[in-house]
Amino acid sequence: MNPIIIALDCETASEARKIVDATSKSVGFYKVGLELYAAAGMEFVKELIKRRKKVFLDLKLHDIGETVRRATVQIAKSGVSFLTVHAEPQVMRAAVAGRGSSKLKILAVTVLTSLDQVDIHEMGYPYAIRKLFDLRVRNAMRAGVDGLVCSPLEVGDVRRIAGGDKLLVTPGVRSAGAVKGDQKRVATPAQAMADGASYLVVGRQVTHAVDPNKAVREILDELKLSAR
Ligand code: C5P
Repeated sequence: MNPIIIALDCETASEARKIVDATSKSVGFYKVGLELYAAAGMEFVKELIKRRKKVFLDLKLHDIGETVRRATVQIAKSGVSFLTVHAEPQVMRAAVAGRGSSKLKILAVTVLTSLDQVDIHEMGYPYAIRKLFDLRVRNAMRAGVDGLVCSPLEVGDVRRIAGGDKLLVTPGVRSAGAVKGDQKRVATPAQAMADGASYLVVGRQVTHAVDPNKAVREILDELKLSAR
C-alpha cells in the first residue's frame, strides 16, 4: 500500500490542482488544511473526491460536542476519508458519533508540536508536556477514535500505547539530504514507517520539487514500495 499523503498547503484551488496533476501518477491521497479550505472550501474537496482522490481534511475541529457531531455528519456524507479533531474527550466522542458507520476515519491531534512547556502552563495545565501528551493519547483510545496524528519522534511510543489496529498519521518527515525548512523534529520516511506510522504526510519535499512525481517515487523507493 502507498502510505504517502501529499499536503496541499496552497492559497488557491488552481495552485492545488497543479500539484494534484503533477503527482497523480504516484499518489492518490491529499491533505486539505485550513488555508486551502478557507480559500476553496468543500467545493474543492468534492472535486478531488470526484477525481477519485482520497481526502484528509485537516480541520482540527474543536467546539461543543453537538456542533462537532453535526459538522462531522456533513463531512462523512461528502466522502472525505480522514478528519482531524483535537484530543478532548467531548470533542472526540462527538466526532466518533457523527461519523457513525460511514467510511470516515477520525484522527485525534494530541498536543500541537508548536506548543512548549511555557505555552502549556500558560494554557492552565499543571502538567509536564509529556504527561499531557500521554493523557491525551489514552483519552483518544477511550473515546474510540480511529487513529492519531503524531510526530515522527513520538510515533513509536504512540504505537506501543495504541496497539496495532489504530491509524497513525505522521507529518514532519524528511528524507536524508532534503531541506528541512521550519521542521525541527524530523525523521526520515523509512524511520517513521519502521517505528509504526500507517501514513506519512509529505509537503514541501514533494510540492516544492522541480519534478513532484519523481520526488514521490524517490520516497517510495526509499520505502521499497511501488506507487499502488
Ligand atoms: O513540512 P511539510 O511541508 O512536509 O509539512 C506537511 C504538512 O504537515 C503541513 O500541512 C503541516 O501543517 C503539517 N504538520 C507538520 N508538523 C506538525 C503537524 C502538522 O508539518 N507537527
